[in-house]
Amino acid sequence: MTKTEQNLLEAFAGESQANRRYLAFAKRAEKEGYSQVAKLFRAVAEAETVHALTHLRVLGQVKSTAENLGAAIEGETHEFTSMYPDMIDTAKEEGNKAAELAFSYANHVEKVHADLYQKALDNMEALEETDYYVCSVCGYTCENGPPDRCPVCGAKSQAFFKVD
Ligand code: FE2
Ligand code: FE2
Ligand code: FE2
Repeated sequence: MTKTEQNLLEAFAGESQANRRYLAFAKRAEKEGYSQVAKLFRAVAEAETVHALTHLRVLGQVKSTAENLGAAIEGETHEFTSMYPDMIDTAKEEGNKAAELAFSYANHVEKVHADLYQKALDNMEALEETDYYVCSVCGYTCENGPPDRCPVCGAKSQAFFKVD
């Protein structure tokens, strides 16, 4: 990998993080009554997304949908088989309960993501039409309407939002 390719990767990571950080800041600003500041955070967050997507495209990491599903399965699988289990162990050792819970929610959900992507890859040409629902507490993702209780975090069905 060339230095510029490394830089693109690094810039992609930074811009992606800036996007989510500004959206979190916007929510807080909204809560504190600063709706114009919230709007500014949301606008700049969108701009950081433009930068992030451009860097990723220049890197050549957006391929055919079949290849992208494969890359997504690989990424999710790495997270639930290696990355999060190690992070959970360390959080336990360090007595950081909040981090342990955050990692463990994500760990469960990444497995679900890998399965959903695998199903999509296996049925790409005839994937049944459905909406997806996401738990706003833990990120659990499912098809065909929210469950009464989230199987990962126990949240009620009202905690789910629909993704068209
Ligand atoms: Fe930027
Ligand atoms: Fe995931
Ligand atoms: Fe949940």
